[in-house]
Amino acid sequence: NKFTPAKPAGARSVDDITGSRRLRRMRKAPWSRRLVQENRLTVDDLIWPIFLIDGDGRREPIEAMPGVFRLSVDMAVKEAERAARLGIPAIATFPNVEMKLRDQTGSAILDPDNLINRATRAIKKAVPEVGIITDAALDPFTSHGHDGILRDGIIVNDETVEQVTAAAVLQAAAGSDIIAPSDMMDGRIGAIRDALDANGFAEVAIMSYATKFHSAFYGPYRDAIGTAGLLQGDKKTYYLDHANSDEAVREAEQDLAEGADMLMVKPGLPYLDIIRRVKDELQMPTFAYQVSGEYSMIKAAGTNGWIDGEKAMLESLLCLKRAGCDGILTYFAPTVAEMLKG
Ligand code: PBG
Repeated sequence: NKFTPAKPAGARSVDDITGSRRLRRMRKAPWSRRLVQENRLTVDDLIWPIFLIDGDGRREPIEAMPGVFRLSVDMAVKEAERAARLGIPAIATFPNVEMKLRDQTGSAILDPDNLINRATRAIKKAVPEVGIITDAALDPFTSHGHDGILRDGIIVNDETVEQVTAAAVLQAAAGSDIIAPSDMMDGRIGAIRDALDANGFAEVAIMSYATKFHSAFYGPYRDAIGTAGLLQGDKKTYYLDHANSDEAVREAEQDLAEGADMLMVKPGLPYLDIIRRVKDELQMPTFAYQVSGEYSMIKAAGTNGWIDGEKAMLESLLCLKRAGCDGILTYFAPTVAEMLKG
């Protein structure tokens, strides 16, 4: 019993409806799809975030990020060498600082020999051809997990800027190629630019975490750097409200005016509209951070067989490029680079 609905009077053929435009024509074969593909993911798009820890020969799994490890400096050097072999242009380092070194003002960020700076020196020495991006943020160094100096429950902007600026100069002195401040304090980009220039680091670039949103997707990262149990309250007085888009563009414009060389949107996938706006309105090198929670979601669903994890990984990264990214910070970087190579 085949159901036959009534035919409309003067029923049109599909060619009548489409005016003979057949949009499927170029999708018919792999070669034709390749020919019209608008965006591509290459190894040149990748920035690899790496977690650091004190000690020697340590490679400590991070529970909430299967496949990602906290690495002692010697192991981080090995991974940087792997990045070089794979052709990954740059790595970004994030330290898990010993608890006894964390304090109210994050003072250990001003130690020229702290974990980040030691790693930068070692990596730069072993693989000078790999770019090193360092985060000049206080959160790995504070006892309260905030990215700023906390006084009477308030994150004090200008003092934090002073501290972050001094840290940026030390990071540049250790060999960092790009300073990427992720704290969202007002005025930090201009202050860092001035300080870098005044201290002989005019060639060191700034990638601003210009539009960094208050987000639940940072959860696993806080486990990775050991701030998960420390954070008092939330970061809503400095990170962007994820309801806002105009404000994000204003932040990006401001950082550009202050001297940022590159802009970043963070997190990635839920913020594709922001990436597109920032790219279109400011026409600057634009990056996204596919953050820890995005990584862990794809990883978890893939491991459980609920989605094809590999395909979801590649799709998410290519979609970030389509949205306007020139590059992506992603924990998948070595996996993707291996795949693209093979
Ligand atoms: C904070 C910082 C965060 C991330 C990197 N640096 C966010 C936060 O903890 O609030 C998140 C990175 C990720 O989730 O992968 N300076």
